[in-house]
Amino acid sequence: MPERAALVTGASSGIGLAIAHMLGEEGYGLTVASRRPEKLQGAVEELKGKGYDVEHVAGNLGDEEVIKSVVAAHRERYGRLDVLVNNAGVGIGALVGEIEAKKLDIQINTNFRSIPLFYRECLDMLEAAGAEHHKALVVNTASISGKRGEAWLSVYSATKFAVVGWTQAMHKELATKGIKSTALCPAFVDTPMSDFIKGQIAAEEMMTPQDIAESVRFLLKLSPACIIPEIQFLRPADSL
Ligand SMILES: NC(=O)c1ccc[n+]([C@@H]2O[C@H](COP(=O)([O-])OP(=O)(O)OC[C@H]3O[C@@H](n4cnc5c(N)ncnc54)[C@H](OP(=O)(O)O)[C@@H]3O)[C@@H](O)[C@H]2O)c1
Repeated sequence: MPERAALVTGASSGIGLAIAHMLGEEGYGLTVASRRPEKLQGAVEELKGKGYDVEHVAGNLGDEEVIKSVVAAHRERYGRLDVLVNNAGVGIGALVGEIEAKKLDIQINTNFRSIPLFYRECLDMLEAAGAEHHKALVVNTASISGKRGEAWLSVYSATKFAVVGWTQAMHKELATKGIKSTALCPAFVDTPMSDFIKGQIAAEEMMTPQDIAESVRFLLKLSPACIIPEIQFLRPADSL
């Protein structure tokens, strides 16, 4: 049984899968969760192929019961939680006059609503890890569009602002209990999510999922006295 355990959402590809690999390398037992079962299964096989301890649950994280079942499976397998990575997300572009309520709800529920529910369900395990080593860590994947509003991606952008605000609130509420919260705010990363723009921005000009995963490795190495509330990641072509 690994000495420490982590739960990563949206781990079937892209940034979440890269973070899961990094956490496996660092010796964490893993629970990975994402929406489509067959895609998640592929990621699980990849992670197990590296020799990592992996639990998995597939389902829509917009659904509170699915979130409860993910945390229950993690608790049953490991009985502790040292690192929670709230990374699942979806972007659906639309101009304001074209916004559809269903797509608005999907983005709010996946990108934001799931995060408070994961904190709530994991709180006792995070508090126990915080009391034990003062370095429980929650990483919330926001976006650079959570720092500045984006046309066409307005709803996505607003959900990511919510993630940044939530992360700040959790710092105030939980940091003195040894639970650190960090929001990751990347510009374009070469993942399936950014495929829509690859006709205009080449994949090679985007950050890699490993760039983001390495930032989380850095967070793991910090002393209990050091908290990084958010990290912005820009490409050379991006303006401040
Ligand atoms: N790529 C970028 O340029 C970029 C930039 C800034 C921030 N981000 C953020 O980074 C995070 C990871 O995205 P990515 O770029 O790595 O894209 P990705 O490879 O498409 O990963 C998205 C992950 O979220 C999961 N997911 C989406 N909706 C879900 C739902 N309702 N329930 C459960 N899981 C769900 C996906 O599973 P399925 O595939 O099965 O749906 C997948 O595992 C997201 O929060 C995204 O907003 C990305």
